[in-house]
Amino acid sequence: MYKIFKTVDEVAQYTAQRLLDKIQTKPEAVLGLATGGTMEPVYAQLEKGLRQHPMDLSRLTTFNLDEYIGLAPSHPQSYRYYMDQHLFDKLSLAQERVHLPDGMAEDRADACRAYSAAIQALGGLDLQLLGIGSNGHIGFNEPQTSFASRTHVVELSEQTRIDNGRFFADQREVPTHAITLGIQDILEAKDILLVITGRHKADIVAQLYHSGVDEALPASALKQHHNATIVLDSEAAALLPRQEVFNPKASVV
Ligand code: F6R
Repeated sequence: MYKIFKTVDEVAQYTAQRLLDKIQTKPEAVLGLATGGTMEPVYAQLEKGLRQHPMDLSRLTTFNLDEYIGLAPSHPQSYRYYMDQHLFDKLSLAQERVHLPDGMAEDRADACRAYSAAIQALGGLDLQLLGIGSNGHIGFNEPQTSFASRTHVVELSEQTRIDNGRFFADQREVPTHAITLGIQDILEAKDILLVITGRHKADIVAQLYHSGVDEALPASALKQHHNATIVLDSEAAALLPRQEVFNPKASVV
């Protein structure tokens, strides 16, 4: 299902509200979290919502999608650092319930197995938050990743390294590898929100809309999911066919 809003602010408010509703109805929920520019307004809204209506977060568990290999949590471009800055430092989460893949693990295969297993042991993800790469990746599952994949080490595509270069002082500093939750892990989430904003994502949104379920476009895996919502602003939806934008399936706010 597509949900299309006029502005990024409205997208952030809607997405944050979905997260708040989940926490309200299930204080012991297991949330799958993402990083990136798209999530910054979402986390700002979430924090604002929690300030206005405080909730007990002590039983909440979070698993982030991915982490760069070779960046310690203290590195300003690590995803752990991002999460601390944008969310974790502002909330009273139980630290032992906050999880990111360990980009510094010596035994990466073991760390990957343990990550998927830890999610399964808790009964799976109640809600998975996703962004999309300009090449259609979700998490760091690049094009041609098996839809049956579990947490794994990935070599980042040139496109992803260029896209993410904006967060680094020098393009050469962008790591070449990362650990990401697999597509199968993502598909097992009970509820999925794929959030996409900005004109620069309009092409991939249109490709996703027209695509079948195809490993060449990782986000198309979500078409197999019964409870996935694609949340767009009008810029990201700019190249969707008009009938989709005005289709009763899509709610235009
Ligand atoms: C981040 C992640 C990525 C991003 C995607 C979009 O944890 O898994 O899939 O969601 O690359 O990034 P932004 O929002 O920076 O365009």
